[in-house]
Order: sequence, then structure tokens, then C-alpha cells
Amino acid sequence: MNEIVKTERLSMRPFTEDDLEWMIGHRTDAEVARYLGGLELQTPSFVEKRLKLYIGCYRELGLSMCLTSLRDNGRPVGISGLKPLDKTGEIELGYSFDKDQWGKGLATEAALAWLDFGFRESGLERIVAVAEPENSASIRVMEKVGMKFEDKAFYYGFLLSRYAINKADFSGRLVLPNSQRLG
Ligand SMILES: CC(C)(COP(=O)(O)OP(=O)(O)OC[C@H]1O[C@@H](n2cnc3c(N)ncnc32)[C@H](O)[C@@H]1OP(=O)(O)O)[C@@H](O)C(=O)NCCC(=O)NCCS
Repeated sequence: MNEIVKTERLSMRPFTEDDLEWMIGHRTDAEVARYLGGLELQTPSFVEKRLKLYIGCYRELGLSMCLTSLRDNGRPVGISGLKPLDKTGEIELGYSFDKDQWGKGLATEAALAWLDFGFRESGLERIVAVAEPENSASIRVMEKVGMKFEDKAFYYGFLLSRYAINKADFSGRLVLPNSQRLG
């Protein structure tokens, strides 16, 4: 339904208001929330506001954080996508997956597909990503897709490491065996 990106294992589509229950379940898991401001921040009402923001962002820009599901059974397992970064308005790549899916390369697979989408379909020249410096798994994903450390600064009220990649560097170094563009 309204899929905008797919990979070998994943399908991404814009959020709808019907996804609220799933999203609250995902974001209020303590380990998922750990580097997303913790459970103090990821309350059901905060998650509802984020969902509305993601829906509005897609309507306005044609890109957003998307519901990310397993293609083989349709089960939602995470959130991934592109959206404007706090303060700078640069476009940021983001991802989070249910804990039972960690360590299978899904975030890397999603990240590559979104970079490809951003550079080829959305005409972006540069994409950034931010994470708490202690969030080693997230930073490892950034490094694996070719993003380079830029600086540390406050975004969303937290001191975060910012990584970035330019279109020319992405196109020059990466082949996407498991990502397919949709027409
Ligand atoms: C960050 C996250 C999306 C990674 O998802 P994932 O599907 O497990 O990621 P991948 O399997 O593609 O890659 C993870 C990499 O980090 C490495 N890694 C995992 N935990 C690590 C740790 N504690 N320290 C160092 N490296 C770690 C893995 O070994 C892997 O690298 P490798 O392929 O070189 O072995 C997942 O942990 C998550 O959803 N976390 C909660 C939400 C979150 O923090 N999102 C990011 C916000 S910035």
C-alpha cells in the first residue's frame, strides 16, 4: 500500500493515523527509546505528535520517516526515512527497529535505500544523520553507508554527533545489490 521504497527484505510506506498503536508500541520499548531521549520523552502523547509530524512532512515534502515492514510477511518492524533536521533544515536520514530485529543488517539495508532515494528521486545533494555519541550501533550504520563525521552540536535538545554524505561520494562508492527503485 503506497510503498515508496523497497529493498530485498524491507518495504517502506508513509505513515497514516492508523499506525499510532504500532508506533507507540515501538517507541515505548525501553531499549529502542534509550538513545531517543528515553522513556521520559517517548510517551504516547509525544509519539502521537511525531506521527502527525511525519504524516504532515510527507504531504508537504514527498519524503518523511516511513513505516518499515518485512516484505516476506508484511509485519511492521521499524521506522526509517528522510526528513528535515532540527534547526538546520538539512535532510536527515533516520532509522529505528524493533529489538528482535537488531543485528541482521536491516538498518544498513534501509539506510542505503533511503540515500539512493534521496539522491536519485528527491534530487538532494547532501544527506546528514545525527546520533548520541554513545549510540555505537547507529554510528556504525552511518559509517557503513559511507557517511563521515562532521561535528557535535545540539539538535532536539541533545548533544548529538552529526554525520554527512554528498551525492557524488555516495554515487561514486556504492552499488545497491539489494535495493530497487520504484517507478
Ligand atoms: C541503531 C539501530 C537502528 C541499528 O539497527 P540494526 O538493524 O541492528 O543495524 P545493522 O545490523 O544494519 O548494523 C549495526 C552495526 O552496528 C554494530 N553494533 C551493534 N551494537 C553495537 C555496539 N554496542 N557497539 C558497537 N557496534 C555495534 C553491529 O555489529 C553492526 O556493525 P557490523 O555490520 O560492522 O557488524 C538499532 O540498534 C535500533 O533500532 N536502535 C534503537 C533506535 C535508535 O537508536 N535509532 C537510531 C537513533 S540515531
